[in-house]
Amino acid sequence: MILSVEDLRELAKRRIPRAIFDYADGGAYEERTMRRNSADLDALSFRQRVMVDVSNISLATSFVGAAASMPLGIAPTGLAGLFHADGEILGARAAAACGIPFCLSTMSICSIEDVRAATQQPFWFQQYLMKDRGFNQELIDRAAAAQCSALMLTLDLQVIGERRRDPRNGLTIPPRLTLRNAVDVASRPTWALRVLFGKRRTFGNLVGRIGGTSGIRTLAEWTNTQFDASANWRDVEWVRSRWPGKLILKGVLDAEDARLGVAAGADAIVVSNHGGRQLDGAPSTISVLQEIVDAVGGRCEVLFDGGIRSGQDIAKALALGARGALIGKSFLFALAAAGEAGVRKAIEIMRNELRVTLALTGTANVGAVGPHILRRP
Ligand code: GLV
Repeated sequence: MILSVEDLRELAKRRIPRAIFDYADGGAYEERTMRRNSADLDALSFRQRVMVDVSNISLATSFVGAAASMPLGIAPTGLAGLFHADGEILGARAAAACGIPFCLSTMSICSIEDVRAATQQPFWFQQYLMKDRGFNQELIDRAAAAQCSALMLTLDLQVIGERRRDPRNGLTIPPRLTLRNAVDVASRPTWALRVLFGKRRTFGNLVGRIGGTSGIRTLAEWTNTQFDASANWRDVEWVRSRWPGKLILKGVLDAEDARLGVAAGADAIVVSNHGGRQLDGAPSTISVLQEIVDAVGGRCEVLFDGGIRSGQDIAKALALGARGALIGKSFLFALAAAGEAGVRKAIEIMRNELRVTLALTGTANVGAVGPHILRRP
């Protein structure tokens, strides 16, 4: 019985090999920051209120000018197409069916063009600053040609935090059948048939398009050789000047950086520690959200990710000032568990949880959520 995102996570564990599951489930180094994301959300309590008319609850909102049925979006995640064949296409379709935004990652398996050709609704596209700035320009042009409705620039992956589960599990891209993973893979024949021996198994946006990538097999090698460790705010302004549409800056964890992001022309920022996958020892996102919202002072939208597993978590992020929350890990678990239907299920579970949470905190719509729905520690 699937009643929660955790149920989908358990199912995902049974459906896909350990190395793929752990890529989503894990974080950097000792995973302290990853655990803090969830622990600090859990530590917040709601103020239950009664006898308020909550017969008409509205979850409708908008992100960077486009309507959304609820304050939730799908974060860009690398490798989604290894969690389920055509994973990015299925994720985009599920999001569209549920009326929420989907963000495609540069490190996706299906390319921008694959997703465009297989979907109707516009999606967001994420990119990093690469050493080959011509390739950034190419991605911007491809995103524009695909009519992507926003560009999301990731700021917190100039160097990669060590995700220790990946080398321990022998994760490679494309995935390979080895003596070490043979039993693991053989006991997941559907995955093996559709993904391991399927048609799309590597980075659809990258392979064959940037030089010096032959022989690269791990995410760490990709980032170390291709991502620009010298990138700075002038480069963000460069992207701003090249992309005429909405620009979302992801990976802000400090009030000062939030101000710099606003100055660089962001339409939205995402308060994020990359799901605890980068700086281990960084604060949880929920613990810094309010100070960042204050620093931004309404000059751009503030989105949130890190540890969102339920509608209750979304409500807590809204209470501390986020306009909406993004899901990365929760999305990948749902996708691995049951493809497009799994992602729709995760979104609908969260929608119902959020609706009930609003009702029981005496709140009629998402715009009325504020710090008053939380008890002060
Ligand atoms: C990519 O951005 C990752 O966190 O693996």
